[in-house]
Amino acid sequence: MFRQRGIEIKNAAQLSSMRAAGLIVGEALQLLAEAAAPGVTTKELDAMAESHIRDRGGVPNFLGYHGYPATICASVNDRVVHGIPDDYALGSGDVLSIDCGCSVDGWHGDAAVTIGVDDVAPECQRLIDVCAGSLWAGLAAARLGGRVSDISHAVESYVRARGEYGVLEDYVGHGIGSAMHMAPSVPNYGPAGKGPTLVQGMALAVEPMITLGTIDTIVLGDEWTVATADGSRSAHFEHSFTLTPTGPVVLTALDGGAAGLEPYGISIGRIA
Ligand code: MF3
Ligand code: CO
Repeated sequence: MFRQRGIEIKNAAQLSSMRAAGLIVGEALQLLAEAAAPGVTTKELDAMAESHIRDRGGVPNFLGYHGYPATICASVNDRVVHGIPDDYALGSGDVLSIDCGCSVDGWHGDAAVTIGVDDVAPECQRLIDVCAGSLWAGLAAARLGGRVSDISHAVESYVRARGEYGVLEDYVGHGIGSAMHMAPSVPNYGPAGKGPTLVQGMALAVEPMITLGTIDTIVLGDEWTVATADGSRSAHFEHSFTLTPTGPVVLTALDGGAAGLEPYGISIGRIA
């Protein structure tokens, strides 16, 4: 298989390892989403994620990444991404983004969900729903022979059609495989039909980040946590996926993406 601009092309065995990693990540996120309740600390969630990943034979890939100190990122309210788990106890109404990853045999998975803790304000629930929907719109736009920015455009259009949300530009999705972050970048905005061609064996992490206000971000004093500059609430969802001749496989979704892609009339494929 040819390569374009340093994009890694995976064979079936490598994609199977990525699927194994993705399943562990998907399970961990499901466990954490169920455990997140008022009074639970983000550090407790982190410990749960690490045990789950290790019990299932995965290796936490955030831990130690450029010195990052935890297994998950837990980003509450105005924190968009890369929040470090700590003793903060979740409160009812918090908007919590949980980002998690692991590797299996050196092949990586990376995914994130945002949940409303207990009872969230309607505008926050809608923020979460629009962000989740935009991820599926982006994944549904990916076709063999299409281009990376078809995904970007679908994410942005989905959000813009649903209201006045900030669509972050400072942080983007990415290629994934033998490393967590690889070429190409996958922005959440822009025109369709640009960027690398989507080919079999490519794997990408799509991760829309949207806010109730500005798209401007700041990095906090811990040098990791990214927060909105205006303090507005934010949401973040992420899946890693690949395209096969029989359809997409969402590597970090427990059902391979079947339910999320079904409304688009797309059946998921199979890793050969
Ligand atoms: N999913 C996150 C991202 O793609 C991964 C964060 S790794 C960390 O940005 F080490 F920075 F936490
Ligand atoms: Co990512």
